[in-house]
Amino acid sequence: MSSFSCTYILYLLFTFIVFVLPTSAWQSQAACFTSIISFGDSLADTGNLVFVLNNSDRASQLPYGETFFHHPTGRFSDGRLIADFIADALGLPFLTPYLPHYGDGRSFKKGVNFAVAGATALNDDFFDKKGIKLGTKNISLDVQLKWFNEFLPVVCSSEEECEDMLSSALFLMGEIGGNDFNHPFFQGRSFEEVRTFVPSVINAISSAITAVIELGAKTLLVPRNFPIGCISAYLSIFHVSNAKDYDEETGCIKWLNEFSEYYNQLLIKELDHLRKMHPHTIIIYGDYYQALMSIYQSPEKYGFQSSPLGACCGSGALYNYNSSCLCGESGSTVCMEPSRYVSWDGMHLTEAAYRNIATGLLGGKYTNPPFTETCTLLEPIGNLELWNNM
Ligand SMILES: *[C@@H]1O[C@H](CO)[C@@H](O)[C@H](O)[C@H]1NC(C)=O
Ligand SMILES: *[C@@H]1O[C@H](CO)[C@@H](O)[C@H](O)[C@H]1NC(C)=O
Ligand SMILES: *[C@@H]1O[C@H](CO)[C@@H](O)[C@H](O)[C@H]1NC(C)=O
Repeated sequence: MSSFSCTYILYLLFTFIVFVLPTSAWQSQAACFTSIISFGDSLADTGNLVFVLNNSDRASQLPYGETFFHHPTGRFSDGRLIADFIADALGLPFLTPYLPHYGDGRSFKKGVNFAVAGATALNDDFFDKKGIKLGTKNISLDVQLKWFNEFLPVVCSSEEECEDMLSSALFLMGEIGGNDFNHPFFQGRSFEEVRTFVPSVINAISSAITAVIELGAKTLLVPRNFPIGCISAYLSIFHVSNAKDYDEETGCIKWLNEFSEYYNQLLIKELDHLRKMHPHTIIIYGDYYQALMSIYQSPEKYGFQSSPLGACCGSGALYNYNSSCLCGESGSTVCMEPSRYVSWDGMHLTEAAYRNIATGLLGGKYTNPPFTETCTLLEPIGNLELWNNM
């Protein structure tokens, strides 16, 4: 009898050590961040631009939002964005857009999103001086930082409270910078001219990173831009008949992707510099470019159709993109199965593509240092094995 209870106690102890302890250790490790604070443009906007434009924008109408939310939310996609998948994986709610909830501290307990579609890293006057038009004024990264500064006293009242909040938040610093090149490229500026903007854009992003670190940020994810030579709008606008301009494997425009690569070299160098300046801060580089490129290289492996360069929603013979008849405008059409498409409206991606990219980032392969070193995931969001076995 006593040997039985002893065995039984040992058994209980064994059960506790093997099953209970690791689970609780895993769970406490899993609650990596208490909130997400996001800056950026349309790749991350969850409702700021449509608020600024009083719902007159395309993204405030169906088919935007049709897949997941079943109504438009101001996201430039059929469903969730990369930031939504990251939030979900971390056990946090989708990001609350700042402007529609301005002044309401309770909305922002678990995160805030300052990203506005169309935003640039550089300030408006940079483009004004060069005669480059911006769609919406006064929404640049610097302005988003001003909003962040006025937001802080609304959510934390003492210095200590703010420090706690900021040090346990994940900062998403973008994607931002893409529009600094989209606007001039789409207005006919040359490769040579736009290339000269790159160091200034990197500087603007670096200054914003420094500013949030000085305020107390401890963990930042800084994405690079997508391969613009594979984006339907660029493919349509810069279409040429010379096959030499195109990558044989993917059909993307080579010189545009070389532009993205040049931007990336400077960004990586700057992030190395920032890590040296702030050794107690984790600055994670997010390789949106390679994560998306691996989809273009083997689309079927990720469940996409074999020709992934055309948009699901839009009009026109070339890549289903016509800048005079965009997705949501009369005359445009929507595909039946957005989950088989990478491009949603020619400029932005589908929820299916964003989910795959988020999975690639969070699985560690497309983040440096790997995201998994900073945080063990709470909720797997996709087929991580698919990404890790590549
Ligand atoms: C916003 O749009 C609504 C509905 O179209 C309209 O009634 C309202 O006057 C608009 N507000 C502003 C500030 O333009
Ligand atoms: C731009 O926005 C900022 C922050 O909201 C504001 O302080 C500034 O007055 C605005 N500037 C212009 C030119 O509208
Ligand atoms: C683009 O859309 C406009 C407006 O609907 C139309 O006039 C034009 O022919 C279209 N261009 C192409 C190449 O389809």
